[in-house]
Amino acid sequence: MMADGEIGVIGLGVMGRNLLLNIAEKGFPAAGYDRNPEKVRALAPPLRGAREPKELCDGLRAPRAILLLVPAGDPVDEAIGELLPHLDEGDVIVDGGNSFYRDTDRRAAELLDQGIAYLGMGISGGEEGARLGPSLMPGGSLEAFRRLQPLLEKIAAQAGGEPCVAYLGPGSAGHYVKLVHNGIEYGIMELIAESYDLMKRGLGLDDDALHEVYRAWSEGELSGYLMEITARVFLQPDDLGPGRLIDAIRDSARQKGTGRWTSQDAMDLLVPVPGIDAAVTMRNLMAARDERAAASAALHGPDPRHAGDRDRFLRALADALHAGIVLTFAQGMALLRTASAHNDYGLDLERVAAIWRGGCIIRAALLEPIRAAFARRAELPNLLLDAELGRAVTERQASLRETVRAGVDLGIPLPGFMAALAYFDGYRSARLPGNLIQALRDLFGAHTYERADREGVFHAPWTGR
Ligand code: 6PG
Repeated sequence: MMADGEIGVIGLGVMGRNLLLNIAEKGFPAAGYDRNPEKVRALAPPLRGAREPKELCDGLRAPRAILLLVPAGDPVDEAIGELLPHLDEGDVIVDGGNSFYRDTDRRAAELLDQGIAYLGMGISGGEEGARLGPSLMPGGSLEAFRRLQPLLEKIAAQAGGEPCVAYLGPGSAGHYVKLVHNGIEYGIMELIAESYDLMKRGLGLDDDALHEVYRAWSEGELSGYLMEITARVFLQPDDLGPGRLIDAIRDSARQKGTGRWTSQDAMDLLVPVPGIDAAVTMRNLMAARDERAAASAALHGPDPRHAGDRDRFLRALADALHAGIVLTFAQGMALLRTASAHNDYGLDLERVAAIWRGGCIIRAALLEPIRAAFARRAELPNLLLDAELGRAVTERQASLRETVRAGVDLGIPLPGFMAALAYFDGYRSARLPGNLIQALRDLFGAHTYERADREGVFHAPWTGR
């Protein structure tokens, strides 16, 4: 094989194969390798397959660039281990998977010692995105990014006349941004799922009606990829039986872990992300199917059927979704701000919002006002403090409250909407009941308390038994 390949891809699963096709189509000679020889054999020209990592490396122009698209965790370390003997100083490895960001930092440090540059690059867009243009979130070696920039800009989605790729920062900045992207993805999917539950159990809408509602929403201010594909889902026939596929799918969803990592890391950084936490919690509750089935026979609640005006209910629900989605982004962006300071990423949140406008799973019309909010004020502490976005939520709060009330009255669980509302109400409260928490801690454990009217740390001789 001639050493003229621009990039090699390791891991020819759905993402790897589609990305390889995308790269080749943009005119960059590319080759792929997979441990499974079947997947290599399946490559057709102009794609080239390599039988061994060595063959892949030998076919690449120096300094080499290799993109890993293997599952997060051990497979990434194994792929790096297989590659290393065939690499030279100055070569670059790009991890395009959903790696946990601390693993990325470790790998970057280990490889730096060996003269290999490392990029941790979040890739979003699923199968279709990989093929037609994903959103790319690279971080790590700036020099390596510059070298690959022309290729990355060609293969990425385009939005607002710009490619959906930008250098995000050193170390694991790119993978951290992808982590939060996925946390937001969990949050929005939970809100959409709750809206579905309300319409199905509460209003008794059938799949055609549900399709119509989501289609209309996806053409208005709620427009976005997740809304569009939700509309699509309700039309899909079941190829194994009568009716629609959606009604044959189990009511539990698996998770690979990125949403959970987002919640866990936010906890560690003391950043509240209750909407994302609620989404992860609901996936866990969804997974406990048998236990829920048993409980449903023993525990009863109100009649879930809504008796009021249907159109009014749907209008409120659309507004509640809009507010909930803004609040989900607000939480995710606030987490990125703190993580950036903590990990020295130097993130530019306008840039993050800009590259999420196309290609990725959470792409939505709303990302343009979010981008504009950070353009107006780069150091914006929270999206809710932007006049336009703050107003977008404030104006819809009555609908959010109405929707949450409906869930409470009908006994339909809405932890995503409730968390969104509680985040809004908590964030806009100058005074929260932390004084009582302090008092209790001091009373039961002499943990001391701070006063509102003077500096210092106090302990009270609690009386009144
Ligand atoms: C993307 C998706 C992608 C993947 C998720 C699914 O941006 O293209 O987020 O990365 O589909 O990891 O996550 P769960 O399996 O945890 O739901």
